[in-house]
Amino acid sequence: VTLSSSGDEILTMPIIGMGTSSYPRADPETAKAAILEAIRAGYRHFDTAFAYGSEQDLGEAIAEALRLGLIISRDELFITTKLWASFAEKDLVLPSIKASLRNLQLEYIDMYIIHWPFKLGKEVKSMPVERDLVQPLDLKSVWEAIEECKKLGLARGIGVSNFTCSMLEELLSFAEIPPAVNQLEMNPAWQLKKLRDFCKAKGIHVTAYSPLGAARTKWGDNRVLGSDVIEEIALARGKTTAQISLRWVYEQGVSIVTKSYNKERMRQNLDIFDFCLTEEESEKMSHLPQRKGVTFASLLGPHDIVLEIDAEL
Ligand code: A2P
Repeated sequence: VTLSSSGDEILTMPIIGMGTSSYPRADPETAKAAILEAIRAGYRHFDTAFAYGSEQDLGEAIAEALRLGLIISRDELFITTKLWASFAEKDLVLPSIKASLRNLQLEYIDMYIIHWPFKLGKEVKSMPVERDLVQPLDLKSVWEAIEECKKLGLARGIGVSNFTCSMLEELLSFAEIPPAVNQLEMNPAWQLKKLRDFCKAKGIHVTAYSPLGAARTKWGDNRVLGSDVIEEIALARGKTTAQISLRWVYEQGVSIVTKSYNKERMRQNLDIFDFCLTEEESEKMSHLPQRKGVTFASLLGPHDIVLEIDAEL
């Protein structure tokens, strides 16, 4: 996908990226080996975040891939990382991106994203958190600092994650550089049509996280991969339920960040470009029961700010 970005530079993001968030955290050697395997399989977009604790592993894997000649230059990769909510303050943005760059052993990030649409007090040690530790973002000053990251060449593109229509309206009202992407939980069981339509109208590209419903993780479940409707389509087409789900996401004009550290499954997830869903299949999938996987309230507690955001996402 070609992303809107200010200036002459054209920013192209691979349609399918590899996620690097896991809980419990994958041990560094496992993560590094899986990322190298993903590069061998053809992944060129890797999605991380300060909060995932996977930036160092990804950085080491990239350095190793260059040593091994799996890639010739760092520019062949598209790397996304995210500003953690505890640092979502204007004076903490630049130190944060620099810390991420050090962790990743990189000179620039391809996409720097505001991870969550609110701020957390720095003293957050565990979740759920006390009421006054969840605070609204001072969006204008934080975004200006994010724009500065792009102007300094530390980030080629800038964006947001988990942003609602109203927060995007606010952001667009003053942004000198508009967000290129909004990364959202999106899959056949959580389709977010209204928010996606809004983003499309505003030229903001949507990337789906948890496109498989984060199966087999602490926070996800089987509502996507265990769907009878998707399974029936998969059987008829000789594909897996994962492939049908990812293909459906792609056909909505949405790019994908999906995580598998399993060699066979990571290859399977890239292999979705040799078929199209029929109108009838798409129609069936658009009527699947809807339920969001992760809500902020379930992670942080039922605080007013997070309840409001959950209601809009
Ligand atoms: P694993 O790493 O063992 O493959 P999401 O992309 O929605 O975040 O989901 C990621 C989860 O789904 C991971 O637990 C991953 O486990 C699992 N997964 C990824 N790809 C597939 C697949 N093709 N078939 C079944 N499970 C998958």
